[in-house]
Amino acid sequence: MTREAKLEKLSAKREEVLLGGGKKRIAKQHEGGKMTARERIDELLDPGSFVELDQFITHRGTEFGMAGTVAPGEGVVTGYGTIDGRLIYIFSQDFTVLGGSLGEMHAAKICKVMDLAVKVGAPVVGINDSGGARIQEGVDALNGYGEIFKRNTHASGVIPQISVIMGPCAGGAVYSPALTDFVFMVDKSNMFITGPQVIKAVTGENVSAEDLGGAMTHNRTSGNAHFFASDEHECIAQIHRLLTFLPENNLEGPQARECSDPAERMEAILAELVPDDSNKAYDMKAVITAIADDQDFFEVQPYYALNILTGFIRLNGISVGVIANQPRALAGCLDVNASDKASRFIRFCDAFSIPLLTFVDTPGYLPGVAQEHGGIIRHGAKLLYAYSEASVPKLTVITRKAYGGAYLAMCAKALGADTAIAWPTAQIAVMGAQGAANIVFRKEIDEASDPQAKRQEKIAEYDEKFANPYCAASRGLVDLVIEPEKTRYYLIKSLDALLTKKETRPGKKHGNVPL
Ligand code: HXC
Repeated sequence: MTREAKLEKLSAKREEVLLGGGKKRIAKQHEGGKMTARERIDELLDPGSFVELDQFITHRGTEFGMAGTVAPGEGVVTGYGTIDGRLIYIFSQDFTVLGGSLGEMHAAKICKVMDLAVKVGAPVVGINDSGGARIQEGVDALNGYGEIFKRNTHASGVIPQISVIMGPCAGGAVYSPALTDFVFMVDKSNMFITGPQVIKAVTGENVSAEDLGGAMTHNRTSGNAHFFASDEHECIAQIHRLLTFLPENNLEGPQARECSDPAERMEAILAELVPDDSNKAYDMKAVITAIADDQDFFEVQPYYALNILTGFIRLNGISVGVIANQPRALAGCLDVNASDKASRFIRFCDAFSIPLLTFVDTPGYLPGVAQEHGGIIRHGAKLLYAYSEASVPKLTVITRKAYGGAYLAMCAKALGADTAIAWPTAQIAVMGAQGAANIVFRKEIDEASDPQAKRQEKIAEYDEKFANPYCAASRGLVDLVIEPEKTRYYLIKSLDALLTKKETRPGKKHGNVPL
């Protein structure tokens, strides 16, 4: 064969791979409002930066008609490129080829990019659009998933792992996204272990795929997803935004960017935000956006466990993870879901050297049989564990209520807060004054000639004693009591002084977080 003929052969083979499952299936993909695997990569990565690997890998299946089946690219496009000039490894399942189903060699392609990403220390983005395990390949396909799960686990805390669900993701396939750090879901995509038909057969329940495992279901109800997008373009923009806050790997250290927002910017609205009536709600998001560089707060899991807020901001250019009680939902109580949501976020930030900033306004853990039986003791403990374990700079701002166990769980000094700041409106106590008066002074109240007046007197007495930041400040459990409008200024000062923080823990194989 001549040299020209050899080049032509390469060209022809490449053409075949680039066409995936063919024009008809590509058209079907587009009709469903979906991009192809390659179009998604092109939109996600910097133009011209993608280098494709393993274009010519083929499956080795022989059963159920697979011997004669051609599967261009093995149903997944893999390689690396850049986003904003930073290296990213990527795989994108190609639904036009055997429904993007995962066989032995499809899995091998994914494993190769994961291994490379860990070796060089770059994030992995995985785009899922697949019918799951390739049914014709049997245990080889299952083993492929196992190899991916193992790598997801080993890469956890080493490189950021991002899963993007842009089509079906069914059966055991869902466990790779579940093992990664962030799951993006696009409207009309879905994830479930067993689909509607199996559920109907086993339990008799009637449920649509959308209600069972649609994008909003996982964002709002199960908490399995972190981000919802109404279409693929919006999703890709969200991924770009998330990556700006993250380092490439666990050794890179805090992320810094140029900042033109003045560090000493005062925020007058904060002075009036906390209502005088301490049972009235206010929006903690207003506090976070007010103090953030350029008022930019990128919320993580904005639809789930609304009583706690998690997300990223920058303070004088440094990427910071924020955890905050939201008095607008359940009065800011901590419950099972809020504890899970916050703990996982804290552990991600700590693993990747992202400082933690906590805003506290919580009356406590949510009372109720459902919470107790749902394991609030175990789930709530995750928060204590995550904060105690975290060795990144930890800053805490108490805006109002910090009661009981929840005071501790929201990164109190005892759990290692490096800087604990309180506003003059802070109330740091074992419980609210009403409850405290009823318990501690019950006898005195009952025996009083005017029990009602006595109760009010005792409430006022308890309020005076504890419903302020000064008792905690007198013990050094609050470092600074500040005017609310100066919060950004003091946070930036504190963070700046903490960036070289080093804190070691006793050597061990790993801890045993209460799962
Ligand atoms: C092989 C598959 C496949 C699979 C789809 N295809 N899923 N081939 N193995 N798992 C093929 C179809 O035969 C079809 O081929 C093409 O992909 C497109 O599929 P359609 O069914 O035409 O597409 P659509 O109507 O859009 O339906 C998509 C779907 C459906 C909902 C995903 O295909 C489906 O239910 N697939 C099976 C899902 C499943 O049960 N997977 C196994 C899960 S168990 P042709 O040639 O006709 O175009 C699992 C275990 C993992 O994954 C365990 C890990 C521990």
